[in-house]
Amino acid sequence: MNAKNSDSHMTTRRAVIKGIGSYLPERVMTNDDLAKIVDTSDEWIRERTGIVQRHIAADGETTSDLAMHAAQRALADAGMQANEIDLIILATSTPDNTFPATATAIQARLGITHGAAFDIQAVCSGFIFALNTANSLMITGQADNVLVIGAETFSRILDWEDRGTCVLFGDGAGALVLSAEEGSGENSDRGILAGKVRSDGRHYDKLYVDGGVSSTQTVGKLRMQGPEVFKHAVKNISSIISETAEIAGITMDEVDWFVPHQANKRILDGTARKLKLAPEKIVITVDKHGNTSAASVPLALDVAVKDGRIKKNDLVLLEAMGGGFTWGAVLLRW
Ligand SMILES: CC(C)(COP(=O)(O)OP(=O)(O)OC[C@H]1O[C@@H](n2cnc3c(N)ncnc32)[C@H](O)[C@@H]1OP(=O)(O)O)[C@@H](O)C(=O)NCCC(=O)NCCS
Repeated sequence: MNAKNSDSHMTTRRAVIKGIGSYLPERVMTNDDLAKIVDTSDEWIRERTGIVQRHIAADGETTSDLAMHAAQRALADAGMQANEIDLIILATSTPDNTFPATATAIQARLGITHGAAFDIQAVCSGFIFALNTANSLMITGQADNVLVIGAETFSRILDWEDRGTCVLFGDGAGALVLSAEEGSGENSDRGILAGKVRSDGRHYDKLYVDGGVSSTQTVGKLRMQGPEVFKHAVKNISSIISETAEIAGITMDEVDWFVPHQANKRILDGTARKLKLAPEKIVITVDKHGNTSAASVPLALDVAVKDGRIKKNDLVLLEAMGGGFTWGAVLLRW
């Protein structure tokens, strides 16, 4: 998926970021709130995960509701009208309905009747998979202005009696608006410069939901072998970051900001140690958001853009790992 061009005289279509927006449900659930439901403590959760609080969707507030808020904020940030969008990709594992794709509900609610909309399901890596897919469709000329959204209501698939999992996740949404522009083909271009997606289905049952349409005809609850996920996370994330940097021909020192999937502070610290990344370059929001699965990367990105850390022309590396296992990364110039 590398868009880098070997012939420096040729121009290349680039997927350039035009706007960003995010949304968190109003209700905040603290670790102390959780300690009233399951046998846990603020101290245990903070120490093992870095999480202090998470947001939980209100009764009846759906993934598409969260996604709509984020999408409208991203469009406003881009200064664009909804009808300029010709592709919507929503990354989610918690769709409103089994089908149609929740992205089509968002398309209709935005009043868009042209172009296409579809969902991508790669669990916590969903936003990275969606962004890489958007980039591919944009550089091949199939889409010009694209809304890429990550939105989840994981609170609906948690087992609120399982302290090993219910303390980790939260709800939220984040969105990017991207437009295709001509670039030089060099790494100095703004937009997506390189990306890579991976999966290894041998680990299917290490992080999964124990229900489904074809198997049980139920929604099911999230199940996880925590220590197993932890073990693979640092290894997979470290390798995908290095591979993506190599595709673009850049060194780790050249990256201004690392925006990782926010699963667990200890995974982020482990990756930083392994790759010798400067801790001050890593954007961390897991303390405030918990793990919002496909929403976590755009939520973290929005925080770092709005507080002025990420500026125009900064080199930003996004990465994620999730159930499947799936993992991936995107290198872009903001
Ligand atoms: C989930 C995770 C925090 C658990 O930490 P851990 O150190 O591996 O803990 P273990 O699962 O080995 O459990 C250790 C003990 O803590 C207990 N425990 C688990 N959750 C607890 C909680 N919320 N509060 C208090 N104790 C808890 C366990 O029951 C176990 O007790 P025992 O020794 O009496 O049996 C850790 O494995 C992890 O972060 N894994 C990655 C998860 C992740 O990020 N998933 C999403 C990826 S997208």
